[in-house]
Formats: sequence, C-alpha cells, structure tokens
Amino acid sequence: MDTIKTNKKSKALVTGFSSGIGLAYSKYLALNNWELELVAQNPEKSEMAFNAIKYKNSTYHLADLSKPEGVEEITKKVKNPDLIIANAGITMFGGAGSIDKGDRKDLFYLLCNGVIDLIEAYVPNMIKMGKGRIVIISSIGAITPMPKSSIYASAKSAIYSYGQSLSQELSSKNISVTVSLPGYVKTEAHSRAGLDHLREKIPSWMWINAEKVVEETEKASLNKKSTVIPGKVYKLVRPFLGMSLATSLWNKITKRNNKR
Ligand SMILES: NC(=O)c1ccc[n+]([C@@H]2O[C@H](COP(=O)([O-])OP(=O)(O)OC[C@H]3O[C@@H](n4cnc5c(N)ncnc54)[C@H](OP(=O)(O)O)[C@@H]3O)[C@@H](O)[C@H]2O)c1
Repeated sequence: MDTIKTNKKSKALVTGFSSGIGLAYSKYLALNNWELELVAQNPEKSEMAFNAIKYKNSTYHLADLSKPEGVEEITKKVKNPDLIIANAGITMFGGAGSIDKGDRKDLFYLLCNGVIDLIEAYVPNMIKMGKGRIVIISSIGAITPMPKSSIYASAKSAIYSYGQSLSQELSSKNISVTVSLPGYVKTEAHSRAGLDHLREKIPSWMWINAEKVVEETEKASLNKKSTVIPGKVYKLVRPFLGMSLATSLWNKITKRNNKR
C-alpha cells in the first residue's frame, strides 16, 4: 500500500484495532510514525494484534465500547488525540423481532451513540487546537436497505448522518470528518456474526480487502472529503442503490440465509 506523509508524533486513537480494518489502519499509521492509542475488548486477540503491529510508540487498552462505561474509560485514559479512527464494530444478523432489547441497545451504542460519545469528548480540544481529523467507519448499509440486519443498517445510517453534519460544521475550524462506507470487506466480521456462508455466496468481485479500505479512506480524510466509498465496484453501483430494481438485485446477491 502507498504511504502518505503525515505529521510525525501526532497521536491517533484507533478503536477495534485487533483485526480487520482496524488492524490494517493501525499498521498503516505505525508505518507513518503516528503515536498509537489502540482499543479492543478481547485480551488474547488484542495482545496478538499488538505483537503483530510490533511498534514501540503504541499502547493498547481493553474496553467494551458497546457500553457507555467502556467509552468513558477510554476518554479518561487517552488524552487529546489528533486523529480518531472510530472503527470498532460487529455486524448482527436477525429478522425483525428476533433480537432482544439488550442486544439491540448494545449494538446501537457500539456503532452509533458510543461513537458520538467518543468524538464529542475530543472535539472541544480539536477546536481549541485548530486542527484534527476524524474518520468514522460506517458501511454501505448506511445507504442501502439490509433486510435481517436492520439494527446494524440503521445505526450505520445514523452515524453517517452525524459525520456528514459534523464535517460541514467543523470544516471552518480545520477539522476534517470523513465517513467511510465500505461494502463487503474480508475480515472476521461475517464469521463472528454466523454469516460464514456469505464468503461463498457473495461473488469475488464484490469483496475488497481491508488495506484498500484504509488506503482510500485515509486519502479521502487527508483531502478533507466528507464521504468515501472504497472500491471501484461500490462507487459504480452507488447511484443505483436507491432504485427498486437495483435494490432487489443487491438483496438477492447478498441474501442472508441464516434462519434467525
Ligand atoms: N467487513 C465488512 O464487510 C464491513 C463492511 C462495512 C463496514 N464494516 C465496519 O468496519 C468496522 C470494522 O469491522 P471489521 O470488518 O474489520 O471486523 P472485525 O475484523 O471483526 O474487527 C472488529 C474490531 O472491532 C472490535 N470490537 C467489536 N466489538 C467491540 C466492543 N464491544 N468493544 C470494543 N471493541 C470491539 C473487535 O475487537 P474484539 O475482537 O476485541 O471485540 C475488532 O478489533 C466495523 O464498524 C464494521 O461494521 C465492515
């Protein structure tokens, strides 16, 4: 992957660093000499990822970001990042009425309200310093219906909307806010949600890798773009996503088989 020069020794906070997009982002930032404050929740996985990044100017923290206490713990420990990569997330599969209230609440907090709490804690200092960058990893699900993943899609949509508004509001303060809307990325997300079958079902041209997401997202952020859709295929289909024919075709290709 190409590396883009950034300020040395600036501090980046990356949530969900222990696999997938977050791990690729952390490796990229390490190559670019950022001081890293990394967050995930699973101790063994986090230690393995931290060792794989192998970068001395870094620290990791364990917290459950699906709970307000977890986010608060991080905002107390990590002071004034120059760059926030709000990436941590899971996908959750389940038809309407099948996901219990607690799980719905945690998922929405992890993907949306918790991201807002995290960002709002750091924005005042960014405004004071007159600089900063915020990257939110949302999903293409923010702009297209996702049957049987409606809680996921609605949280991603809400955080997309928050990021778009923040981007306009903070641009005059030299703070860039970029929301990335990846499509299907080869990470641990699908097997974690019991959606392993999607690896076979989704055609290979619809998958992109985590490094590509990082490369395009970082470029968009440095160019102060408010939104980025990584990957050529997704850029091409975007104008058609709201149309009913395209949506039914999309849903046919990406249909979630699981019976839940
Ligand atoms: N893969 C895709 O196709 C795709 C597409 C669009 C958007 N996205 C978004 O991309 C982001 C990264 O996902 P990924 O695909 O890279 O999946 P992944 O490989 O499963 O990584 C998810 C990361 O988030 C962390 N995380 C999950 N729940 C957490 C919690 N409650 N508290 C703290 N950390 C937590 C995980 O750490 P632990 O293992 O310690 O929990 C892990 O580091 C997510 O927001 C996801 O919605 C993914």
